[in-house]
Amino acid sequence: MSTDPLDRLVTADVGRAVAAIRRGGLVALPTETVYGLGADASDETAVARVFAVKGRPSHHPLIVHIADAGLLDDWAVDVPDLARVLAATCWPGPLTMLLHRSSRVLDAVTGGRDTVGVRVPAHPLALELLARTGTGIVAPSANRFGQVSPTTARHVLDDIGDRLEPGLDVILDGGASPVGVESTIVDCTVSPPQVLRPGGIPIADVEAVIGIAVVGAAGPSRAAGMLASHYAPRAVVELVGSATEAALRAAELDAAGEQAIVIDHGDDLVAYARRLYADLRMADEAGATHIVAVMPPAEGLGHAIRDRLTKAAAPH
Ligand code: TXA
Ligand code: MG
Repeated sequence: MSTDPLDRLVTADVGRAVAAIRRGGLVALPTETVYGLGADASDETAVARVFAVKGRPSHHPLIVHIADAGLLDDWAVDVPDLARVLAATCWPGPLTMLLHRSSRVLDAVTGGRDTVGVRVPAHPLALELLARTGTGIVAPSANRFGQVSPTTARHVLDDIGDRLEPGLDVILDGGASPVGVESTIVDCTVSPPQVLRPGGIPIADVEAVIGIAVVGAAGPSRAAGMLASHYAPRAVVELVGSATEAALRAAELDAAGEQAIVIDHGDDLVAYARRLYADLRMADEAGATHIVAVMPPAEGLGHAIRDRLTKAAAPH
């Protein structure tokens, strides 16, 4: 058995994660989208540590994760019917809804806003943790601010392991996140609803459930944490339209003495989303100077992948 204190952080034992939440520690938890850095949403000190460990500005609000849709009214008020329908249809799953916050929600969680993001994650370990702790758990992606999101416990350990405290905090290992990109965020406090972030559930599916066209983000909620550069690896990311173009560009870069790695999963959007963040990380580990990524088609999950690639390619 390893005596490395970093390795002592990682466990598959939900009981250890439950104990960590109860004592005010942080739990990096697996979800179907990405790993989150979790804390008891009602514990001001623990919530503050989430921001500190991530290096995240305090005005960027956090999503509250709950065990099931029946708990929605603990955290939100004036919940519109369409949000109830979405909760009943899409949860557990990669959909976050912005709703008017209840008085129970801490200012630190919403950055002082009057809305709160809520979701029920579709991962058995996350759901067990939520059910056993009986609280809401705030969880931003468990990476350092602005960097690539983690989809395995190892990614979390690599990113923030040195900022966690063995004995207080835990990384709960639930295997690789099956969806691979973050939840779709829909602001349900405005009419018609607005999509703030394309994600794991295609917007077309959301629209099919509520029978209303969702519009792009505009207005106050848009400004919260929507940055041009995000999900950024160390290597320079270039975007191209086809595999042929990617091969040509990679050859050009290699000839110029650079080291290029191509990311392409063809039309397999599910595989592309699942692999995307691990691919970006692997390119960095391999010492690539450039990542040449083939943009997937702008349909279904492709919207989320294109959004992440565009932000990864933005100057930072
Ligand atoms: O899939 C996910 O959503 C993952 C997993 C762990 O659940 N979480 C996640 O959290 O991606 P985070 O913090 O990395 O991204 C949440 C985004 C941020 O851009 C934040 O600013 C926005 O949601 N957000 C959260 N609450 C908000 C609010 N009340 N108003 C506007 N934006 C909000
Ligand atoms: Mg994030």
